[in-house]
Amino acid sequence: MSRRARFLEALGITAEWVPRARDDAPQAEAVSEAVAFVEPVVEPVVEPAVEHIAEVIAEPVTVAAPAAAPVVEAAPAIETAIPVVPVDLVEAPVSRARPEPSLVPAGPEPDSAQAEREAAIAAMAWPALDAAVAGCTACGLCQTRTNTVFGVGDRQAEWMLVGEAPGENEDLQGEPFVGQAGKLLDNMLGALGLARGRNVFIANVLKCRPPGNRNPQPAEVAQCEPFLRRQIALVRPRVIVVLGRFAAQSLLRTTTPIGKLRGTVHTYEGIPVVVTYHPAYLLRTLTDKARAWEDLCLAREVHDRAGAGA
Ligand code: URA
Repeated sequence: MSRRARFLEALGITAEWVPRARDDAPQAEAVSEAVAFVEPVVEPVVEPAVEHIAEVIAEPVTVAAPAAAPVVEAAPAIETAIPVVPVDLVEAPVSRARPEPSLVPAGPEPDSAQAEREAAIAAMAWPALDAAVAGCTACGLCQTRTNTVFGVGDRQAEWMLVGEAPGENEDLQGEPFVGQAGKLLDNMLGALGLARGRNVFIANVLKCRPPGNRNPQPAEVAQCEPFLRRQIALVRPRVIVVLGRFAAQSLLRTTTPIGKLRGTVHTYEGIPVVVTYHPAYLLRTLTDKARAWEDLCLAREVHDRAGAGA
């Protein structure tokens, strides 16, 4: 058995670990190479950095040792003074349909109203939270969305994944990560022995699609963050895996590049957070799958360690 295999076995990661070239690999058959999340193969000619990562992964003692991973607490909440119109959070309609244009915010909202809105969201149970997201008109994205994308999965999951914002497919279907990036994400979950909806809850920072998949704006994030915060508080996962630079920087309130956020255990509201690449990025940058696998190994260790202490 190779050192790498021994390392993975030591982590308890043996299930669903499918070598890229195996003929009997149903996962690999079912998806394109780009979407498959199989053992990251380092080709003979690779970037030196990736070669190094492969070496590090193969080293059973030094990789992602949980006790050594530094823990960084997220910065305190940013004060927001975002212009919005008050929303009736509890009575909001449950329909996911696009709201009437007359509901679109027209003017500034005083800070106290924003604080009241955040406090109301922070006290919501799942049904009220679901309804509040479905009927939200707190920013302009409600004008262009088809559906809100609340999040999906086990509401008592030990794992929570947080992405950026719905794309076109997600906007149409009302579910996160249903496109090609979603297929890769499902395979990443499979590599961890997890599956969508089974011990995992998947959500985004934004619940509505930014038109044309443009970057979310700070005001949009500020309005949407209370929803994600409440989701995390209700799920109370053992570990949060944040997917991509944008989600990581939003959740952790930092401008640190993703390359520096990876490999460290951060916290959000006392819950450990591990940062990895966004699956859409990994579709374009196959060589970074090795790094993503390293991140998932770290997340797995953090998860298991949290369970051991529970
Ligand atoms: N990208 C994301 O970050 N989230 C989705 O739901 C889909 C694509």
